[in-house]
Amino acid sequence: MNNTGKLFGVGVGPGDPELLTMKAVRVIKSADVIFTAASAKNTYSLAVEIASPYISPDVPVNILSFPMTKDMNTAETAWTENARMIAGTLRQGRNAVFLTLGDPTTYSTFGYILKKMKCIMPDADIETIPGITSFHAASARLNRILVEGEESLLITSGAFGGDRIRNVTGIENVAIVKAYKNIRDVNQALKDTGLYKRSVAVSKCGRDNEEIINDVGELENRAPDYWTLILASK
Ligand SMILES: C[S@@+](CC[C@H](N)C(=O)[O-])C[C@H]1O[C@@H](n2cnc3c(N)ncnc32)[C@H](O)[C@@H]1O
Repeated sequence: MNNTGKLFGVGVGPGDPELLTMKAVRVIKSADVIFTAASAKNTYSLAVEIASPYISPDVPVNILSFPMTKDMNTAETAWTENARMIAGTLRQGRNAVFLTLGDPTTYSTFGYILKKMKCIMPDADIETIPGITSFHAASARLNRILVEGEESLLITSGAFGGDRIRNVTGIENVAIVKAYKNIRDVNQALKDTGLYKRSVAVSKCGRDNEEIINDVGELENRAPDYWTLILASK
């Protein structure tokens, strides 16, 4: 393994360029090759934009395609192909940095890379550098306590509606990412569980066009932006 490079999964935070850790900055600055994910439909990467002040101009940046599909064969093939590219870089003795928005262990494409790397290159040297999640940035932005004392916090996705919220009993606090689809049912679930009154949505937290939506019902009258989350509490 001496001549192989190392893979770093690096969280770059939710958008504010000052919300990268010092470790993330150091690792990005010393990368030989940068990787990140984009949907098959576009090649723009916000993660690269956030990290760009720290990426040396001579370092190659590879935007890997992660198709957003329910077809598991197509998805698995793409993840395997992407992990092979990264493994190829490591075998050349080069260090690779996989950039991801927020935190790499939280609803991140880095999860797919980790799984596939364990099959393709089980002895690969891999380090995950945590990042500030979108919901931590949002609670900080609002000066709102996310969870305290003996309370619990449910972190969930709203992409398929509100059943995840309904199915957990006694929720005290919830952070709902991907609150851009099925927003009516997400709101209904918040009402059903007594969490609606103390709910707030944040869109594009920490970016120029950030929006704080105090009445989450408003989200039902427009197509919420993909970069929207909801914080709600009893
Ligand atoms: C695939 S998840 C990525 C989560 C990310 N890894 C994290 O740690 O926050 C994408 C969802 O995260 C939330 N998100 C990410 N960045 C955000 C931001 N700047 N403002 C509001 N929500 C954001 C949105 O709910 C979006 O649909």
